Amino acid sequence: MKKFTAVDDVSVPGLGLSQSIDLMIEKALAYKQDPWRDMGLGARRRIGILFLNPSLRTRMSTQIAAEQLGMKPVVFNIGSEGWSWELEEGAIMSGTSVEHIKDAVPVLSQYFDVLAIRTFPGLEDRLSDYTETVLNSFIKYATVPVLSLESATLHPLQSFADLVTIKELAIRRPKVVLSWAPHIKPLPQCVANSFAQWANAWDEVDLVITHPEGYELAPEFVQGAPVIYNQLEALENADIVYVKNWSAYGDYGAMPEVANDWMLDEAAMALTNKAKVMHCLPVRRNVELSDFILDGASSIVTRQAANRVWAAQAVLAEILKSNYGAD
Ligand code: CP
Repeated sequence: MKKFTAVDDVSVPGLGLSQSIDLMIEKALAYKQDPWRDMGLGARRRIGILFLNPSLRTRMSTQIAAEQLGMKPVVFNIGSEGWSWELEEGAIMSGTSVEHIKDAVPVLSQYFDVLAIRTFPGLEDRLSDYTETVLNSFIKYATVPVLSLESATLHPLQSFADLVTIKELAIRRPKVVLSWAPHIKPLPQCVANSFAQWANAWDEVDLVITHPEGYELAPEFVQGAPVIYNQLEALENADIVYVKNWSAYGDYGAMPEVANDWMLDEAAMALTNKAKVMHCLPVRRNVELSDFILDGASSIVTRQAANRVWAAQAVLAEILKSNYGAD
């Protein structure tokens, strides 16, 4: 694995993508069984873990995963503590940007064996966000492998952990409903995009997407999965409901008005097959999901977040093996 930014990066030569995902899930679950089984793999290797915006789960789980492989993690909240980056080629830097990304990233590549970065979308310029301007500039100037900790359009470590969590439920080909939820402000589409990308690539689930009209996701991630605007119809016989808010992709970054209440309630859950409820967290209680659901037996959000460690550890292990020759 030369980098990790999307589902295709787990692809193993000679195996289909779905089988490659299965293999990665097995590796993650093996680390869950025995976290220290490869503690020598990252010895004398250092990972720079950089954040342009806040994080709890991604920051902690990546750090723990690195340490369990014997790596030294160094975390830097570059968005709040570092120099602001210029991205434009040939820019006359007389504004607020202090350092060009083409100067900063080669330096970071000298300090670290692996670089991990969380970027985020501006939600104003769809083309810039969907061409992953920041992440791709970072990768362009890095001379060491790069791991995405969430980008403008995707959150691959989250999605991988989500699939690990679904696998653990041991439900034969579950119906998984990705259900839009209300929020007070526009959020990125990346968790929903990424979950759809991974679930579509994995033969083990049947994905259904439900959201109000106006919240359609980018077709490249939906990939023909059924989209049902009636949430109650979509939830019928669901085994798993993945709840998440996102802003509009079409009227980019907007929050089109929604007629009815999309927050899951008891009546909606009664239509499901005693579904387990997932959310990537952080969650706004009683806006996105009710206390009743989050505190009830159907919620698996803590388990889902805990699995972020094993997903990150499996990915980091593959990056170390592929790039530094350890076996
Ligand atoms: N799910 C997730 O990425 O959480 P954090 O923003 O806390 O890292």
